[in-house]
Amino acid sequence: MATAQKIDIEEGHLDPAIPPDVAMFSFYRNAEQHGANLLFRLLKHLDDPDAQAMLSQHLAEETQHAWLWTDRILRAGFKPMIVADGYQTRIGRAAGIPRDIVDLLALTVVVEQRALRRYQRHLRRPNLDADTAEVLRTVTKDEAWHIDWIRKHGRQLATERGTPERFEEAMKRFRVVDEEVTAVLEAKEREMLGEAYAD
Ligand SMILES: [Fe+2]
Ligand SMILES: [Fe+2]
Repeated sequence: MATAQKIDIEEGHLDPAIPPDVAMFSFYRNAEQHGANLLFRLLKHLDDPDAQAMLSQHLAEETQHAWLWTDRILRAGFKPMIVADGYQTRIGRAAGIPRDIVDLLALTVVVEQRALRRYQRHLRRPNLDADTAEVLRTVTKDEAWHIDWIRKHGRQLATERGTPERFEEAMKRFRVVDEEVTAVLEAKEREMLGEAYAD
């Protein structure tokens, strides 16, 4: 049996056999899978049946995104890789355990916004190939509604609980953590993939 190639972001250097684009697809794949995992946790906490329906579609799309990146890796002639210490692992560690459902929703919005920003930035890259652009456009379209509904639901839940400011406060707190994590991560990516991949 073969062993999956591994990219350890903490080590900050990339096996020369792995093209930078394929490493990037692997980071996206890893983040989508962890994102889906976060939504699985949410499933257990949302009582509202409409929210359950939205969340089910949302979860289906995140796993589809992970597949789209997997398929893009395959089309590039590579196999799925193990990514150690990616964005979601780092933010999970830095943010600590969310205190309640409002925190969990706020964290979800912040990580989705980060994914959206990364995809949008990638779309603006010069010399972007048509295949990758197509995948990026598909995932970007979904991320926009994910952010909208989770944010709305988080605000509503916080208001119903008599603490309307709690959601925005939690978002602000997680955004600080996200910025710290992203700064470190982008420095690592620059080291590994070169300037063009983390502007
Ligand atoms: Fe996604
Ligand atoms: Fe999403």
